[in-house]
Amino acid sequence: MQGARKIHYMHREVAPNGANFGGLRGGAGGGKMRHPMLQLAQATYAWPLRPLMFRLDPERTHRMTLAILARMPAFSPAPDPPELRTTLWGVTFSNPVGLAAGLDKDARAAAAWNALGFGFVEVGTITPRPQFGNPRPRMWRIPERRALVNRLGFPSDGMEAVKPRVQRMRAQGLRMRIGLNFGPNKETPPERVVEDYAALASRLGPLADFIVVNLSSPNTPALRAWQAPERMRTIVEAVRAAQPQSRRPLMVKLSPDLEERELREICAAAIDLALDGIVATNTTLKREEVGVAASFEGGLSGAPLLERASEVIGQIYRNTQGRLPIIGVGGIASAEDAYAHIRAGASMVEFYTGFVYRGPGLVREIKEGLVRLLNRDGFSSISEAVGSGQGKVT
Ligand SMILES: Cc1cc2nc3c(=O)[nH]c(=O)nc-3n(C[C@H](O)[C@H](O)[C@H](O)COP(=O)(O)O)c2cc1C
Repeated sequence: MQGARKIHYMHREVAPNGANFGGLRGGAGGGKMRHPMLQLAQATYAWPLRPLMFRLDPERTHRMTLAILARMPAFSPAPDPPELRTTLWGVTFSNPVGLAAGLDKDARAAAAWNALGFGFVEVGTITPRPQFGNPRPRMWRIPERRALVNRLGFPSDGMEAVKPRVQRMRAQGLRMRIGLNFGPNKETPPERVVEDYAALASRLGPLADFIVVNLSSPNTPALRAWQAPERMRTIVEAVRAAQPQSRRPLMVKLSPDLEERELREICAAAIDLALDGIVATNTTLKREEVGVAASFEGGLSGAPLLERASEVIGQIYRNTQGRLPIIGVGGIASAEDAYAHIRAGASMVEFYTGFVYRGPGLVREIKEGLVRLLNRDGFSSISEAVGSGQGKVT
């Protein structure tokens, strides 16, 4: 099935509505030349690129990939089809497919993400001060399950180093939107965690199209406890107070390991606080429940997370009566997966682990597939499909 789908996409350059998208155009003049490096990477990813990369330590591969992508010259992506245009909080996204937090923590490769056709990138998690994170090794692949486990613990260059890079990203006038994902330093004592979030919002907030407060990494001690409504409230209020002039849309990122009752209370608080949305979900600490035997310590991501993430997205959508935009993340490795999150209630989607297993061509594959699925179901836009798998929500 997978193979058949790939062949189908590989040979189609033109969307059903006739728009040419997914290809990468040279900047000025809008010629049809696609970025040669990316084209090569897409064509050779399944073989031999990925098998070669998988021989190396995962973190080393990650660093090398970022270093290469960071050197890529800017290329504008081809236009996206109108069905994919998504507007949230008055911000227009050319398409609803994003790069999840963690892959480009320090804003190193913006031009490449834009050229690949992402509608947005979530940069981060950024911490106020630079930190190394947990000792290595701290990242593992589980290829037979198309999964990763990590306990990186927020390695970050820190906000002062990331700021000029994000400023440059902005100055380039990229089509892609920029979300900034914030987290506290590991050494910060609990009574000062709120100050860390406020400092990040004050220094970097004005540069973001939207802000994500990460409350759900399993690798920073006790971080997940900040998901409790009263504690979440203190962070949200501090982040808002820290950017009095230009308040950016504010989302919180949640764990897939929350109980149904906890999730209900968090959703009620999110509505009460007039949050702008929820990112669901982060990695899971569960193993047996998602059918994985590997015992590496840390957060699990990738295919085994898909179903649970969709379930959580659905619960949030129902708990909030579809009133809060959701960015759906967890296990996406195909257009069908992305569509499942959208039908569960996500307005936009993003992925990390899918990029590792499927390569750069996945962005284009998902966009093409989403247009096909929308057409199949008689929807003329993504927003019409959001929550359509839920029945009527009252
Ligand atoms: C190696 C790695 C590092 C990550 N780092 C972050 C991070 O810094 N901040 C964050 O909010 N999420 C982080 N994530 C979680 C992802 O953004 C995403 O929520 C999760 O992996 C599920 O999506 P996926 O199955 O598409 O990977 C990381 C994930 C991985 C695999």
